[in-house]
Amino acid sequence: MYVCLCKGITDSQIKDAVYSGATDLRTVRKQLGVMSQCGKCGIMTKQIVEETLDRT
Ligand code: FES
Repeated sequence: MYVCLCKGITDSQIKDAVYSGATDLRTVRKQLGVMSQCGKCGIMTKQIVEETLDRT
């Protein structure tokens, strides 16, 4: 599922980034470019990062 339409980032890409060591929102943003344009994906990205961290 696409989370960030501006950059074409999916939830799996965000999860993979967290699993590979991007353990906060800022790092995920820096690595993937998510939330770098309109910002509408911010809330969902945050949710996915937190959920993935809870599971690790
Ligand atoms: Fe992610 Fe616009 S949807 S920056």
